Amino acid sequence: MSTTFQLDTGTSRANPTPAPMKRLTVPAIRKRKVDGVTAEPVVMLTAYTARQAQLLDAHCDLLLVGDSLGQVIYGLPSSVPVTLDMMAAHGAAVVRGSYHAAVIVDMPFGSYEASPEQAFASAARLLKDTGCAGVKLEGGEAMAATVAFLTNRGIPVMGHVGLTPQAVNVLGGYNARGRSEAEAAKIVGDAKALDDAGAFAIVVEGVVEPIAVAITQAVACPTIGIGASAQCDGQVLVTEDMLGMFERVPRFVKIYENLAGTIAGAAARYAAEVRDRSFPGIEQTYQPKKADPK
Ligand code: KIV
Repeated sequence: MSTTFQLDTGTSRANPTPAPMKRLTVPAIRKRKVDGVTAEPVVMLTAYTARQAQLLDAHCDLLLVGDSLGQVIYGLPSSVPVTLDMMAAHGAAVVRGSYHAAVIVDMPFGSYEASPEQAFASAARLLKDTGCAGVKLEGGEAMAATVAFLTNRGIPVMGHVGLTPQAVNVLGGYNARGRSEAEAAKIVGDAKALDDAGAFAIVVEGVVEPIAVAITQAVACPTIGIGASAQCDGQVLVTEDMLGMFERVPRFVKIYENLAGTIAGAAARYAAEVRDRSFPGIEQTYQPKKADPK
């Protein structure tokens, strides 16, 4: 896909204008898995801003507006304090910045657990305010009735099992899950319950690999792994993690770039040029028009 850059006089920024194409849909993603086989793995990355979405869009099937934005964007200690307002604002920005990928917005902690009706009200607001294609919520069997309630009422739902970060206060940390037989069986059961309830895909996070493989074989919908297995039907990473924006990342992250170093280096060069007055130079300075020689 080609992407052209044009000056948008409304924003004074060069906004990429991708060649018009039909946005991927949730049913198209769901149909990638046929009789337990996904020939083309599902590519998902997180996105929180319009510009980030513009840059990732052409390469992804799904853009996830994850509640990880709590830590990544807002410097919060966990995703627990993230609000529906935050998710709606960032979700709308990501939809505005994308043309190709289906955008999924996370339901934040406290916006869906109380009842299917509470979940419907929150999810409907996210769909209306952002234009996203669906929502993601955490939890297994306990959330199955809610997933069925939403999908039967027109709201596509992505599930999320294994390490569920919103439950950090119950889990006691972010360690990999499923090391005991009982816990492994519970996680596989959670995924099956979400699949039966109509989830169109399931994120499998932070589990020992055999669990991810067992879930992928057991459920009809695509699994999207993070700290799970290459045998999942797709993969997701937090974009800032894989771009090397943080010194510490979970072991399952592969770092594809060192953006932290690039940004710090550029800031250091800028600071030095401000201090020695070599910035702004003649190219960055407006001069009065030369007087007309008459
Ligand atoms: O919030 C998030 O970014 C997520 C992904 C890591 C799956 O849930």
